[in-house]
Amino acid sequence: MFSLRGRTGLITGSARGIGRAIAAELVAAGARPVVHGQRDSAHLRETARSLGGSDGPLARVAGDVRDRRAVDRMFAARGPVPRRLDFLVVNAGAYAATPSEAVTADEWHRMTATNLEGSFWTVRAALPRLRRSPHAAVVLVSSVLASRPIQGGVPSQSTKAGVEQMTRALAVELAPGVRVNAVAPGYVRTRMNRRRRVDRWFHAQLVRSTPLHRWAEPEDLGPPVRYLLSDEAGWVTGAVVHATGGLDLS
Ligand SMILES: NC(=O)c1ccc[n+]([C@@H]2O[C@H](COP(=O)([O-])OP(=O)(O)OC[C@H]3O[C@@H](n4cnc5c(N)ncnc54)[C@H](OP(=O)(O)O)[C@@H]3O)[C@@H](O)[C@H]2O)c1
Repeated sequence: MFSLRGRTGLITGSARGIGRAIAAELVAAGARPVVHGQRDSAHLRETARSLGGSDGPLARVAGDVRDRRAVDRMFAARGPVPRRLDFLVVNAGAYAATPSEAVTADEWHRMTATNLEGSFWTVRAALPRLRRSPHAAVVLVSSVLASRPIQGGVPSQSTKAGVEQMTRALAVELAPGVRVNAVAPGYVRTRMNRRRRVDRWFHAQLVRSTPLHRWAEPEDLGPPVRYLLSDEAGWVTGAVVHATGGLDLS
């Protein structure tokens, strides 16, 4: 079930955090994803090495998704991204919990450039290669905050809501050749939450209001993505899967 044996793909933002855990899950399912980071960092090289196993390191590519030309360079003809892509996971994203009075134009730009434009240009650049696959599937990474707002972070939350509508719009436009879905995580123990993870008040509130009573680990996000990319999800497109431990319901 949910095998991805022999499938090739790209996972953006997979040098660490949720993207890295998704890469590990897809490798376990038999895929050979290309891993990606904003820079060709030690994290990215280590991820490629450790997940590649005995077959050698996974291919890796770097580029800032805020820069459309850098995104195009990631898909250069002689680059590491294969000519046929069975899947694309658009996971690179940004978040800031700034109260509205303190939000700057730079922050708005960073959120739209990363979460909205970066996601769109990545899908656009990958499209010719996805169209070569009979299994083509895209998963975008949204957030519980797209539909369950909290105080602070209006630009982040608004752009993630945009990612969910982008998912539906792309699903309609790219059917029947390419399925497009999204996963919306709750709070996950990653670098993005480094301040919140040590905030005892926040921790207590979160555990109380999450029906499954804990933070998510990055590894919790791998299986829903694996399912959405697999042939077993062949009738699923335009869906947003809430992987939140029930937080979106509370
Ligand atoms: N953590 C949570 O609680 C949570 C909740 C809901 C949604 N999400 C979403 O899940 C996704 C992954 O988050 P995470 O918590 O795993 O974050 P993370 O640990 O900070 O990792 C983010 C990854 O994205 C890459 N990245 C960030 N900005 C980029 C840019 N402009 N261009 C290219 N790559 C970029 C980073 O590259 P480098 O390694 O090179 O820096 C890194 O590999 C994001 O879309 C985030 O919004 C997270």
